[in-house]
Amino acid sequence: MRIGLIGATGWIGGALGTRLLTSGIVSPYSLVAMNRSGDPGPYAPYAIGWVGDPLELAAQVDVVIVAVRPETWPGLRLQAPGKLLISLMAGVGSGELARSGARIVRAMPNAAVETGRSYSPFWAGAGVTMADRGVVHRILGAIGTFDELPEERQIDMITAVSGSGAAYPSLMMVAMVDVMKRHGIPDGIAWHAAEAAVCGGAALLAGQPQQAQNFLAAYRDYGGTTAAGLDAAARGGFSTALETALEAAAERARTMTMAGSGAV
Ligand SMILES: NC(=O)c1ccc[n+]([C@@H]2O[C@H](COP(=O)([O-])OP(=O)(O)OC[C@H]3O[C@@H](n4cnc5c(N)ncnc54)[C@H](OP(=O)(O)O)[C@@H]3O)[C@@H](O)[C@H]2O)c1
Repeated sequence: MRIGLIGATGWIGGALGTRLLTSGIVSPYSLVAMNRSGDPGPYAPYAIGWVGDPLELAAQVDVVIVAVRPETWPGLRLQAPGKLLISLMAGVGSGELARSGARIVRAMPNAAVETGRSYSPFWAGAGVTMADRGVVHRILGAIGTFDELPEERQIDMITAVSGSGAAYPSLMMVAMVDVMKRHGIPDGIAWHAAEAAVCGGAALLAGQPQQAQNFLAAYRDYGGTTAAGLDAAARGGFSTALETALEAAAERARTMTMAGSGAV
């Protein structure tokens, strides 16, 4: 299998391309890369192929991965009839991508690509075969875990959730530290306590996320200090605030291409 990677040296493309090589999913001979600057970036140690034109890239490979920013996509004028195209771009829909003539898969990795711990759900368009899905699994498996989404539009909400990385844990930590400081707790101790709550609590859920429901039920049954806090959080609109945040982020993903920003 020969893979072409457009946007090969960006944050996402650079991490994906090097992990494809180091995991042996593609040999240097079978990887064809393209970027804007011509800088080989993390591929300097590898004898991979380089091209300066998307049409040339598509002609040389079986699978084209697009990891440029959304606003760069229209100018590429990619034509890849009969090829499998895996887009990692937020906000560029399958209608736009299908103009390339390729079979379309959209995937949404997150910043943990760098450490091989991305969660990268994907959606497959019409004509994508079981063999194609096997290819997608191997490629996304190089950067972490994945699931197949039933509907394309769900990618926007997934972008809002798993695409947000450390944003909401950070928000919670800063808010907790602010409260503790108002109670005169020294700065360093406040950060340690917030770390215990956010990181220590999250560690208990790692690998068994659905336990969250059981933890909440157990805290409420116990009826102690945490139950009092959870009740107050519900009355204060904690879930509503989170829903508002996720809906706003998903809406931003929907309009991202028009706004001209590729930032997740
Ligand atoms: N960052 C995230 O956490 C994240 C998460 C999920 C999805 N995404 C999506 O991933 C995509 C890439 O994001 P990123 O953060 O990796 O962007 P980035 O760091 O800015 O990288 C963009 C890449 O595109 C290349 N490029 C720019 N113009 C080009 C052109 N005309 N032809 C060929 N290559 C070109 C750049 O080349 P040079 O290096 O030579 O300039 C660079 O390699 C975006 O569409 C974004 O929506 C990002």
